[in-house]
Amino acid sequence: MQEIWTEKYRPERLDEVYGQHRIIERLEAYVEEKSMPHLLFAGPAGIGKTTSAIALSKEMYGEGWNANFFELNASDERGIDVIRNKIKEYARTSSSSEIGFKIIFLDEADALTPEAQAALRRIMEKYSHNCRFVLSCNYSSKIIDPIQSRCAVFRFRTLLEDDVKKWIELIAEKEQLDISEDAKKMLIRVCKGDLRRITNLLQISASTTSDITEDVVRQSANIARPEDIRTLVEKAVEGNFREAKEKLDDLVVEDGLSGEDIIKQIHNEVYDIPMDIQKKMKLIDRIGETEFRLVEGANEQIQLEALLADLASR
Ligand SMILES: Nc1ncnc2c1ncn2[C@@H]1O[C@H](COP(=O)(O)OP(=O)(O)OP(=O)(O)O)[C@@H](O)[C@H]1O
Ligand SMILES: [Mg+2]
Repeated sequence: MQEIWTEKYRPERLDEVYGQHRIIERLEAYVEEKSMPHLLFAGPAGIGKTTSAIALSKEMYGEGWNANFFELNASDERGIDVIRNKIKEYARTSSSSEIGFKIIFLDEADALTPEAQAALRRIMEKYSHNCRFVLSCNYSSKIIDPIQSRCAVFRFRTLLEDDVKKWIELIAEKEQLDISEDAKKMLIRVCKGDLRRITNLLQISASTTSDITEDVVRQSANIARPEDIRTLVEKAVEGNFREAKEKLDDLVVEDGLSGEDIIKQIHNEVYDIPMDIQKKMKLIDRIGETEFRLVEGANEQIQLEALLADLASR
């Protein structure tokens, strides 16, 4: 079976992590000093938080890093019992390494209930001679203040376009892919700095061909051609319901797009479609309503047709 690329290409060392230079410098200083406070890593998905925590541990402990690193995903086990049992159990046993403390990595810490966080706070204090916590979260506002104040907080930044491009080129070279400039632009646009998403899309794309064009990326990411979405909306706005519906059917049947894929893209395109401002506002309002219904589980075809019918009848 083929290895998952996000693991295959997870940087092993701190200096291999892209972007995040300031953070990496400070983490390297902790390694140098063989000492660190509790850490809180915050920031959006797929930009190197877990990667940095693992690389930090590998460099801190060297060979035996695994014995001194305990990873728990808080969103799977978000209750207070996990904190009281698993984490406490691990935290109280002392480290075997010369460093003197172990690292407990708590991924998605923002999924912990406030009660569980309060219990965690006490463990952090009580066992800090034995262990340091590295908490990772998307939203630091969901972490209670007493924990935040006990941690050095690191805000991971969304990667800049240049770094994302270098990442794409690294994978292209290692996997011997020929990725067109348009395909790179498309990847950068849809992934919004999330390197995990980029890496996954490249793997999906590469499973069919090594010649990665914009079209290949579009299909892997379930994205319609922008012109198709525009035609769909424009036909409906002109009052031509029949042709708008045909276009919709093509997108669903031929491109295999889901209702949610389509509504998101209508929303992306709507700002560029020349249209009377009042009509546009109404359309945006209807997009919001349709999206909500789809998320709630309403029938996709009925909802999208209703949206087109509404536009066509104005
Ligand atoms: N800054 C980065 N440098 C190099 N590779 C990265 C970086 N960020 C993400 N990646 C790639 O994406 C994968 C996932 O990254 P990681 O697990 O570090 O994300 P995360 O920030 O912890 O996201 P989440 O909030 O979803 O947990 C890595 O295995 C690696 O392949
Ligand atoms: Mg993570």
